Amino acid sequence: MRFHSPSLNKSGRYRWRTGFSVSTSKDTLAWYPALVRVEDLGTPAALVDLDVVARNTSRMGERASRLGVRLRPHVKTHKTIEAARLQVRGHFGGITVSTLAEAAFFAAGGFRDITYAVPIPPAKLPEAADLSRRLDRLSLLLDDSVVADAVEECARERGIRLSVFLKVDCGAHRAGVDPGLNDSVALAGRVGSSPHLDFRGILTHAGQSYRCRDAQEVRAVAAHERDVMVAFAGRLRRAAVRVDEISIGSTPTLAVAEDLAGVTEVRPGNYVFFDATQVAIGSCALEDIAFSVLVRVIGRYPSRRELLVDGGALALSKDPGPVHVDPGCGFGLVLTAAGEPVPGMRIISLSQEHGVVRCPHDLTAGQFPVGSLFRIVPNHSCLAAALFDRYAVLRDCDVVDEWRPVRGW
Ligand SMILES: Cc1ncc(COP(=O)(O)O)c(C=O)c1O
Repeated sequence: MRFHSPSLNKSGRYRWRTGFSVSTSKDTLAWYPALVRVEDLGTPAALVDLDVVARNTSRMGERASRLGVRLRPHVKTHKTIEAARLQVRGHFGGITVSTLAEAAFFAAGGFRDITYAVPIPPAKLPEAADLSRRLDRLSLLLDDSVVADAVEECARERGIRLSVFLKVDCGAHRAGVDPGLNDSVALAGRVGSSPHLDFRGILTHAGQSYRCRDAQEVRAVAAHERDVMVAFAGRLRRAAVRVDEISIGSTPTLAVAEDLAGVTEVRPGNYVFFDATQVAIGSCALEDIAFSVLVRVIGRYPSRRELLVDGGALALSKDPGPVHVDPGCGFGLVLTAAGEPVPGMRIISLSQEHGVVRCPHDLTAGQFPVGSLFRIVPNHSCLAAALFDRYAVLRDCDVVDEWRPVRGW
């Protein structure tokens, strides 16, 4: 796979394919030779820092190699072919998705081994089965015997074998079987012995890591995630169930994990962009954040030390963020248009298209006039990025490319 990079024009500046609402020119899908700067963009705009994405993806790639596990990165944070190619560089090429729309999009983009990491509802089986024929492998998740029956029936009817993981709850209490129950062993055995199913193994996501307050707490969750899964695999193997894969991983736990002995693959995703929550719980530093939302000041209220910006809940999402670490965190971190933090500024409320920013001091005459730009680092980049149909890809403050994510389910 070849990473598409923007071409340089004669003066050594980047050409990019614009489709953005650029305030200095008409919207166009033609190659546009002029350099576009971040301040030329219409707002709100989703910004992606290319060099930071490249650094984050190569660091996670090196980490997985050092820990001796295969990297099957999650692509749901960005949902773009370009970032996914950076994620799998130097690795076997498998990816994880969160919708069948993503699976179809990445299959069309050349990805051949995909895990759909949400428990499969029987109503989606015909679509998943059709898609699996176009791939080397599409793995599905289940945690329920009724679903196991439906997956088996679907595979039998079509004369195909479907790949299946048993989803395990290692403490997040969102989805997955309880690894302490005999019923969970029985379900794995039932899937493992089906002639129509290819039982890959067990898979978990330690979502409870997001409830931690610092890296030390996350380290304990990471150890627990591994220990629960390795112990459960041992129990299954003693019950004569073949377990090829033990698949784990959240961005927080993989940022700190020290020992993954027994684990075969990891599926982090958020690390491509990171966000304000990851900084607060100790997964990364501010300079590792690759995603932000450009907004403009559209109102100014010095008597209450507030500004109004044109990034509301439909640009930033209403994820409450790391309130367990910083109860006053607001709806994201406020940076200058060049990406420097503006200390003490808080986004105190969001409505659909409005964001209210409270300043820590009186606004001096002429400070932050209407039209001023800020970059907001959202609390949850996966949710905020999903609100945009395109990202402006930056190097410093120059727009060098445009990435189009897949949308829908
Ligand atoms: C099943 C599964 N695997 C992997 C991930 C990636 O985790 P993170 O977003 O912490 O990188 C997620 C995220 O929700 C997930 O649900």
